[in-house]
Amino acid sequence: MSRINTRYLGLELESPVIAGSSNFTSRLESIVEAEAAGAGAVVLKSLFEEQIVSMAHSMSSRETYPEADDYLQYYTRTNSVETYLDLVARARKSVRIPVIASINCFSPKGWIDFALEIEKAGASALEVNIFFMPVDKHQSSADSEAVYFKIIDNLRKKLTIPISVKIGLRFSNLLNFAWQMNNHGASGIVMFNRFYEPDFDINNLNVVPASVLSNPVEQRYVLRWVGMLSSQDTKLDISATTGVYTGEDAIKYLLAGATTVQVCSALYKRGFTVITEINEAMHKWMDGKDFKTLSDFRGKLNYKNIDNPSLFERSQFMKHYSSYI
Ligand SMILES: Cc1cc2nc3c(=O)[nH]c(=O)nc-3n(C[C@H](O)[C@H](O)[C@H](O)COP(=O)(O)O)c2cc1C
Repeated sequence: MSRINTRYLGLELESPVIAGSSNFTSRLESIVEAEAAGAGAVVLKSLFEEQIVSMAHSMSSRETYPEADDYLQYYTRTNSVETYLDLVARARKSVRIPVIASINCFSPKGWIDFALEIEKAGASALEVNIFFMPVDKHQSSADSEAVYFKIIDNLRKKLTIPISVKIGLRFSNLLNFAWQMNNHGASGIVMFNRFYEPDFDINNLNVVPASVLSNPVEQRYVLRWVGMLSSQDTKLDISATTGVYTGEDAIKYLLAGATTVQVCSALYKRGFTVITEINEAMHKWMDGKDFKTLSDFRGKLNYKNIDNPSLFERSQFMKHYSSYI
């Protein structure tokens, strides 16, 4: 029988399927349920930089954070930082699988010290979800990327647990960026976050939020970049997130070179049994191909390992579109 255990961020996982960060993973019952369904690890719902800064501010001034808008004030009151630390500690006691904490941030200062509290509460690792939106035309790409590196540098000085970085999908040179992330001390990269996206309602002339849940076809862009990055000489573990709904989706990401995959929208649509189904489908497929472990096929279809790497490249663009009638 095939084995699907893997090592991610130096942690031993029984399955490469991780319950990704979402509202599900902000509740202890769901974390326990994820483990029972066969998740290899769980990433907790993100704590926001604004929450941490707001807490620090209110502790020093005994007032609420003046710049925070109403929603943030409400969110901060109802999702306190102490509640988060308590969740980390209780989750670690309640499940055997690694519990990865998550912070959503955009700046390298004001909240970093707090990450140590998360480590002390027992988190197995920290996933930093960096949502830095460059809106200043005078800031160069290099300046923008320096923000990411500074965040990792500052965290690395404080923490002993492994750090992974969850990033958005647009970089001028993702491979260089990821390689530098690794040099700055990140152990893993989570590809990619699904940021809030605005859509337009043309009848009411409004800007409205686009669907929060993913669609399986969105995985194609991710597949390319996992396949490119895993072929590079870095020690970064890749966790692929976006559009994992079935065993086939997970297998594709592993063939591209991912160490783990994260599921989120599928949990909303089909519940935790989807994790059990993905694990079973992976076993079945591996047994059929006579693969004993994940390393027998991980990265087999990445940029370096396929016979025709140009399938990942620009030349396909011309061929693809010119031959379509
Ligand atoms: C309702 C919801 C809440 C989410 N909350 C977070 C979060 O707090 N932190 C985070 O890093 N990602 C969050 N995500 C993003 C997911 O972890 C995941 O990266 C993304 O949805 C893509 O995976 P999927 O296609 O399996 O949904 C959230 C996604 C959804 C749908």
